[in-house]
Amino acid sequence: MIDQLNVETKYQTLLTEIKDQIFYITINREDKLNALNIQTLSDIKNAVLSIYDDPNVRGVILTGKGLKAFAAGADIAEFANFTVEEGTKMSEDGHAVLRAIDHCPKPVIAAVNGFALGGGNELAMSCHIRVCTEKARFGQPEVNLGVTPGYAGTQRLAQLIGKGRALEFLMTGDMIDSATALQLGLVNHVVPADQLIPKCEEILNKIKTKAPMAIAGVIRCVNAYYEKRADGNNIEINEFGNFFGSEDFIEGTTAFLEKRPANFRGN
Ligand code: COA
Repeated sequence: MIDQLNVETKYQTLLTEIKDQIFYITINREDKLNALNIQTLSDIKNAVLSIYDDPNVRGVILTGKGLKAFAAGADIAEFANFTVEEGTKMSEDGHAVLRAIDHCPKPVIAAVNGFALGGGNELAMSCHIRVCTEKARFGQPEVNLGVTPGYAGTQRLAQLIGKGRALEFLMTGDMIDSATALQLGLVNHVVPADQLIPKCEEILNKIKTKAPMAIAGVIRCVNAYYEKRADGNNIEINEFGNFFGSEDFIEGTTAFLEKRPANFRGN
């Protein structure tokens, strides 16, 4: 799909394109199964941050080049000889990249087109929604390398599928197929390969009809539950109240009462 688009080349490791208010990001290291080296993570962070305040972008689709891998993990060749300090920095930086995705005020969908392993699964989990192909495979095989996950895999996996199932997944290092991922709640939808991007577009096109500020508010409130558990309810109360002063709230409620579709302007 991305091959047919007018692709920008400003990132060393990514193909990017904005079309119909959707920002497409494709990790472009197919020969290394889109393994996430430092440059790739930096490019992803910069790409996502670049659309935070862009009114022409209403959602993001993140995928990997080719039919085999979304991302087969952090780049083992790059980190194999890291020191304790370098390993810690690698994890800190990875956390920051994935937090930039998690906190993106626009919906980010991972279109998982193949292997999502280690950092690749962590990258997918940092997205707001995951759609995968039938052939996609998921795993956190870090224990095979003698290390824990380092890009918040221990945190987000437990949040998504529950502690007991996450612990088994993390401690066995087993790979699971798409049907199991769906059953566990790791992915939202499983589709045939040729439906992957269209399914993501269908979801984003639906979200695009909603009030942009309310979408950003939903993301903030849900993130608050996981990051500041005690404050989550208060954050939602404040968010909710603040919307009563917005033009989109007036438009949304007026449109309902006038029995017509709302025309949201993002203010
Ligand atoms: N880091 C760096 N390079 C990687 C990589 C990773 N995480 N995953 C795959 N690659 C590279 C391979 O080294 C190989 O490169 P080469 O052709 O220069 O030798 C290329 O991608 C193709 O991978 P290959 O292993 O030959 O493909 P495969 O079909 O036999 O196996 C996997 C596919 C996904 C099962 C296998 O690549 C794998 O286990 N990867 C590592 C997964 C992992 O442990 N991730 C967690 C890292 S923290």
